[in-house]
Amino acid sequence: MLAVITGASRGIGESYARQLAARGCTLHLTARDAGRLARLAGELRTQHGIAVEEIVLDLAQPDGAERLYAEVRRRRTAPVDLLVNNAGFGLYGEFADQPMPKIQDMLVLHLLTFTKLVRLFLPEMRERRSGAIINVSSVAGLMALPYLSLYAATKAFMVSLGEGVALEAGKYGVVVQTCCPGRTATDFHETAGVKEYRTPGGEQTADEVVAESLAALDRGRSLVITGRRNRLLVRLQQIVPRRMVLWAAERVLRPSREEVRLGAPGAGG
Ligand SMILES: NC(=O)c1ccc[n+]([C@@H]2O[C@H](COP(=O)([O-])OP(=O)(O)OC[C@H]3O[C@@H](n4cnc5c(N)ncnc54)[C@H](OP(=O)(O)O)[C@@H]3O)[C@@H](O)[C@H]2O)c1
Repeated sequence: MLAVITGASRGIGESYARQLAARGCTLHLTARDAGRLARLAGELRTQHGIAVEEIVLDLAQPDGAERLYAEVRRRRTAPVDLLVNNAGFGLYGEFADQPMPKIQDMLVLHLLTFTKLVRLFLPEMRERRSGAIINVSSVAGLMALPYLSLYAATKAFMVSLGEGVALEAGKYGVVVQTCCPGRTATDFHETAGVKEYRTPGGEQTADEVVAESLAALDRGRSLVITGRRNRLLVRLQQIVPRRMVLWAAERVLRPSREEVRLGAPGAGG
């Protein structure tokens, strides 16, 4: 079985790589950090005796998806059975303060590259009537989030596209899973520019998120919200009036006075 994983150099993507390697999958791993990819690939080859390809690419470039697809086709020795569309980052702070180049990167990575990868890898799976795509969205894609507004909006796009395509692809025996983790202990928060959360705790580990996602994939599930606390939160926000959910989210996510004094938090993302 051949799996292609984007954002495999750390965090949730690295966990997908480790858990799929333990299942004996051949891996094509991609991210920008060549050193981290090489270390992980070397470790997985030695530990599991599997073939691992490293593909160093910036997927926030408009042609990133096409370049990844071409590279996978050039190197692969079998059809792709699983695409894990995981690469992503957060941008915290008031939208009006966020740097335009970061906005552009997020739109390209979360919308354009994400969409093109599904479009590029799906037809062959449909033809073969087997295969799967895991799209890593977020619980942020199921609700608007002040101070993470653009991030949440792009994740909502992923949920919508993923759930729609899942129904189309299911007719051909192809599973398209939208995975929605909540807060997970990775470098994501530092990259996003979050100093600390007002509601600490309740984090899952990347390994827990991925174990739930892969177990759900084994059962053919197209939407998985990982973690009991996150499932509860999503249920709650479906029954509580929308304006109350937004009010609570604004209170929880509002930058502290200290963060405002230090400058626009989004600049750290
Ligand atoms: N952590 C959370 O709380 C959380 C919650 C819900 C959803 N998620 C989602 O989970 C996914 C993985 O995030 P994470 O928590 O694992 O964060 P992370 O530890 O920061 O990892 C992000 C991964 O994405 C890659 N990436 C970022 N920008 C890229 C680019 N321009 N081109 C290619 N690769 C790029 C990074 O690799 P390089 O830096 O080497 O390029 C890294 O491997 C994201 O889509 C995120 O939105 C995270």
